[in-house]
Amino acid sequence: MESQNLNIQNAPTNAETAKTANTASPSVQSYLNNDGIDSMTPAARKKRVSSLSLSDQWAGSMRSPSLAALSKLSNGNSNVSLKKTGSKVSLGKSHSRLSMLSLGSDGHPVRYKTHIVDHFRVASYAFAFDIDGVIVKGPETIPYAREAIKMLNGENKYNIKVPYIFVTNGGGRPESERAKELSERLGVEITEDQIIQGHTPMKDLVAVYNNVLVVGGVGDKCRKVAEGYGFKNVYIPLDVMYWNPSVTPYYTLTEEDKKVCKKDVDFSKTKIDAILVFADSRNWAADQQIILELLMSKNGVMGTVSETFEEGPPIYFAHSDFIWATNYKLSRYGMGALQVSIAALYREHTGKELKVTRFGKPQRGTFKFAEKVLKNWRQDVLEEHVEEITSAVASEYSGEDGEEEEEEALSFKTPAQKADEKKKEEKDKDGKQKPEPKRGVFNETDSEDSDDEDEGLTIQKLSQLTLDLPPASTVYFVGDTPESDIRFANSHDESWHSILVKTGVYQEGTVPKYKPKYTCDNVLEAVKYAIEREHQLELEEWNAGAQDPPENPDTVQPTQDALLVEREVIREK
Ligand code: G3P
Ligand code: MG
Repeated sequence: MESQNLNIQNAPTNAETAKTANTASPSVQSYLNNDGIDSMTPAARKKRVSSLSLSDQWAGSMRSPSLAALSKLSNGNSNVSLKKTGSKVSLGKSHSRLSMLSLGSDGHPVRYKTHIVDHFRVASYAFAFDIDGVIVKGPETIPYAREAIKMLNGENKYNIKVPYIFVTNGGGRPESERAKELSERLGVEITEDQIIQGHTPMKDLVAVYNNVLVVGGVGDKCRKVAEGYGFKNVYIPLDVMYWNPSVTPYYTLTEEDKKVCKKDVDFSKTKIDAILVFADSRNWAADQQIILELLMSKNGVMGTVSETFEEGPPIYFAHSDFIWATNYKLSRYGMGALQVSIAALYREHTGKELKVTRFGKPQRGTFKFAEKVLKNWRQDVLEEHVEEITSAVASEYSGEDGEEEEEEALSFKTPAQKADEKKKEEKDKDGKQKPEPKRGVFNETDSEDSDDEDEGLTIQKLSQLTLDLPPASTVYFVGDTPESDIRFANSHDESWHSILVKTGVYQEGTVPKYKPKYTCDNVLEAVKYAIEREHQLELEEWNAGAQDPPENPDTVQPTQDALLVEREVIREK
């Protein structure tokens, strides 16, 4: 592994780490530890969740005689519950990955015991990654990350594709830009739908506040991010400084600053409804000066002072990381440190404890948001996989190369059906009118012709398919910061499995304040660990419901694909 370019070897000594890895001694109550997260009980699983791959569960749900389910699908808006799964069937991409299945004498798919599950499929488990200190370190990409992601994309000995998302406390730019950069660094396509930054859940505040002061990031990038979320009137500290330079006596606006300022705002008449700290401040002194003035103001108007200190706008932080990992040998102070500083100044001035609302890890709001994003992403991965597989099988059966129109590619026929079709064509030549097939999502082609047996299933537009997706069997969360990442994964739901890596904030030799379920050197080790662990669970479940393999495998009719099995079974009825 080519780790020479990365400074991860340049780790601090234990003594140095002890000073940087933890935030405060146990006798000092940290301002950042007041959200009650540590006393939460993670949600327990109410029902057993299968370790079989999602695609196998899906294929099982298509099993005959569930014609009812098929016809439900045909109207394109009914759910087919994966929980109703019967016998589980492989959806293999080609003959080489279908050997564990066959068609039983009753026409139903049969599963055989095996020592390895390695047909192409989509995992029932998933991953969520922290970014800084796990995937990247400042401008450097952690070298293990590329291979780890490749493995999750299916390049592993079990041929399993594992859905994954990223949950970073970082931000300051649009999710799309972060996705583009990650794609380039990792050499695979990452989409914005896979990215949650510290400020991403603040989208939900758009309907709540009209005038917001957005703090942090470079230039006016965070203004643009907030506008992209839909906020109407977005101001940044530079606008306030332009309005009245005396607000920040030790900072003079540069020409660059002036280019991005809003120049026509009178902040003595403008009410700031909320302060949203989106990203790390690039100018602590100036930003604190403005934030504190607004917090102590009357209704968020600059130049006013509340007598009660109860009238200022609320303040939200995109995260509370006290320190974070860059390519410098010691961790750097983050937004959590800014919170501590502002709260200390506020208390010194008002005698009151500053109330803040926090997003980012380890907060519950971000956890809920992450669950929603992950669910959508798992569904997308499953649907894409099913489309790929059905197209591949269609091409294989029709003898076509898959380059044709989507409808044709997805409308495949078994050899028996082709023969039937040929017969029918001959009939048509004799003058009988050919009926127009009706098409659905998974549609039993409906014909006015009474000879229904002539028609097979037409598979089309899987993107319209709505599945009742089961929850992930386990979500592996890989992070480098115990206080945010491990605490996040441990606190909210017991199906999340925390993994601590040593490429970021946490350094070997220190005792992490929040204990991970597993600790390893880097992200690649984390991925390998989870894939092996999950394969074991999947294998056990597979074999528990499987038959002993036949003595003479040649006598067994091989199953090409769950869908084809389905068709054959239906046709035989
Ligand atoms: O500012 C702290 C932030 O960069 C940490 O990011 O990816 O480690 O959550 P991450
Ligand atoms: Mg990190």
